[in-house]
Amino acid sequence: MYRRRSAPTRAEPRWARVAAAGEVPEGGLKAVSTETGAVVLANVDGDIYALEDRCSHQDYPLSAGELEGDELECPFHGARFDVCSGRALQLPAITPVRSFPVDVRNGDIFIRIG
Ligand code: FES
Repeated sequence: MYRRRSAPTRAEPRWARVAAAGEVPEGGLKAVSTETGAVVLANVDGDIYALEDRCSHQDYPLSAGELEGDELECPFHGARFDVCSGRALQLPAITPVRSFPVDVRNGDIFIRIG
């Protein structure tokens, strides 16, 4: 006899409030702490992006870098990353940094951490 299986359960996504939207000015960066580690927020033309705050070259904080358009340059050796995806764009970094989904609700910035 056919028995219907229940659909596999998925864990609910977990979001963490990390800052007020006003704390990240357009063209600016902000370092925040989360339970998954350090994250850098970037404001590109009013849109907020979130990357792991650790350069994939030698682990220095990207929040010390400069945002130029949608590219974040690490100040230590000049690697560049696409803030939208975390993709490495320029040597010496060759691997991406983790990026996090972002939601801005009622003036607060949330990132998905799980
Ligand atoms: S630590 Fe970022 S480029 Fe070297």
